[in-house]
Amino acid sequence: MRLKPTLKRNLPERDVLRLGDLANWRFEGTPLAVLGHPVKHSVSPEMHNAALRELAVRNPAFKDWHYFKFDIEPERLREALDLLYENRFKGLNLTVPHKILAAQWIEAAEPEVRLSGACNTLLWTENGYRGYNTDLYGMTRAIEESFALKLQGRQVLLIGAGGAARAAAVACLTHEVGALHLTNRTREKLDLLVEELAGIRADIPISIHPLTGAFSIASPNLIVINATSLGLKESDPAPAVLWGLHPATKVLDMIYNPSKTALLKQAESLGMRTANGLPMLVFQGERSFKIWTKNSPSVETMFRAAVDGLAE
Ligand code: ATR
Repeated sequence: MRLKPTLKRNLPERDVLRLGDLANWRFEGTPLAVLGHPVKHSVSPEMHNAALRELAVRNPAFKDWHYFKFDIEPERLREALDLLYENRFKGLNLTVPHKILAAQWIEAAEPEVRLSGACNTLLWTENGYRGYNTDLYGMTRAIEESFALKLQGRQVLLIGAGGAARAAAVACLTHEVGALHLTNRTREKLDLLVEELAGIRADIPISIHPLTGAFSIASPNLIVINATSLGLKESDPAPAVLWGLHPATKVLDMIYNPSKTALLKQAESLGMRTANGLPMLVFQGERSFKIWTKNSPSVETMFRAAVDGLAE
């Protein structure tokens, strides 16, 4: 692929590139990219390119930076990372299903990656890619912004036991929640998660709850977080029933497309405050952008670009 930064207006933003496009990669600017499978739905390119355009007005050194989107199968992730490194992709975002895989390979990593076993951001360095997990920051900031409260001292009911749930659980423990309640469809995966979390904060109580029926948690201080993939399809039912929980409960669904899942509709009908995953996406993006460019983007610009990208 031959691309000149001078032709930037014509650079692919919505196009999904593939591994083959790296074989003859000739982009003369500084490339960034998100890798996923599937990845078509991702609005990260719109979000980051909007922030890059804004930054380039202040600092022309960023004029030739561009954020691309690659669909990479998990079996070819290793090969893709090597090629992206050779082609000097300055920064990468990893999304489903690459976060856990990559965390196993990246030797130089921030503590959040080691604790959560998941990596969503890579930075090119002379010694290889350095791994970060900005999802933890994204989730914490999203809760602060959406509900005007801090995680510290709160009770959290976390639904799910995959990579997203693991990162959320680590964020809860490192931000000193009062208690962590866990639930998941498959009990074995939940037991494994509890084992992995042991030792991060031994003083914070962790309890396991069945996913069927109403939860027996009475606290008005509760935040429910959906970290399962149930809700991604419009027709998906809610992963849990919220009846019986205190109406002051706050509910965060990590899913942002569709913007209102069955879980959020249920929560609203019970008078609970809700937030979808869009603020989390934007805040994790803000942190990644800062890691790559050493500049703070406008969160508002990123948010607007993500909303516009979703509307198209
Ligand atoms: P991610 O990395 O995005 O977290 P994952 O590791 O595949 O993805 O985890 C998906 C989560 O969604 C799991 O908690 C999964 O539950 P299981 O452990 O029982 O598989 C949950 N999930 C997916 N489909 C679900 C469904 N139909 N009902 C309930 N939970 C579901």
